[in-house]
Amino acid sequence: MSESNEPIVSVKNLSIGFDNEIIMKDVSFDVYPGERFVILGGSGSGKSTLLKHMIGLYSPFSGQILINGQDLTRADESQKMRILQAIGISYQSGALFGSMSLLENIRLPLEEFTNLSSTAMDLVCRIKLFQVGLLGYENHMPSELSGGMQKRAAIARAMALDPAILFLDEPSAGLDPITSLELDELVLSLSRSLKVTFVIVTHELSSIFKIGQRMIILDKKRKTIAAQGAPEELRLNSPDPWVRSFLNREPLINPD
Ligand SMILES: Nc1ncnc2c1ncn2[C@@H]1O[C@H](COP(=O)(O)OP(=O)(O)OP(=O)(O)O)[C@@H](O)[C@H]1O
Ligand SMILES: [Mg+2]
Repeated sequence: MSESNEPIVSVKNLSIGFDNEIIMKDVSFDVYPGERFVILGGSGSGKSTLLKHMIGLYSPFSGQILINGQDLTRADESQKMRILQAIGISYQSGALFGSMSLLENIRLPLEEFTNLSSTAMDLVCRIKLFQVGLLGYENHMPSELSGGMQKRAAIARAMALDPAILFLDEPSAGLDPITSLELDELVLSLSRSLKVTFVIVTHELSSIFKIGQRMIILDKKRKTIAAQGAPEELRLNSPDPWVRSFLNREPLINPD
């Protein structure tokens, strides 16, 4: 699983929120190169907010986020841009540009961040589409694709610059069970063939046990991490009854 003892992402004593409201506090965890790390939590617990902090979109109240040992929270804009080159993200809302073909969507980051020739960019786009099973759909518009295909295309775009870390926010949410399973299979096969580090936000229990190697569980009520470890191990042996019940049943409900 881990290929190195140095974490590729290290979150230390993070406290995050909006205005004066704390969403999560005392959040600390490490992600190791090559692993599939899951961030789990009920709706509104702060998963997307945590992810957006990890890619530098928001600044925390306190704490650190180290990417490859470099502190994102203290970086100036140009350092930040350099650190973020290591990261690809597929947002919860999908966010392919509707007025652009798949090829044009995937070309965007290449145009912005590389000096590749036009031919080379097209080749990279086709390789990425091939990797997510969408070769041949270069000229399709997002609206011409199913929900599952749109998610795949968003992952292809996130991979455009060959990032070392891929952040996926709810890659299989809103899809039917079969399509959702196919997305999980895609994540597994990319992880095995590309050795990319995955940080996957989800609230789908079936996905976690299939793709997660280690995880954290965010507890909305306690506003912090309730547990971290291997999914199956936590489901069976967590000393915290809330964690066990959380991992053993759906839907995910906070006790009073
Ligand atoms: N930009 C924002 N400004 C103010 N509050 C926000 C903002 N974004 C999120 N929140 C609040 O932060 C809390 C956590 O939201 P977040 O979207 O991170 O949860 P989530 O765990 O991703 O939920 P879901 O499973 O529904 O995607 C919510 O109470 C939400 O209303
Ligand atoms: Mg979310």
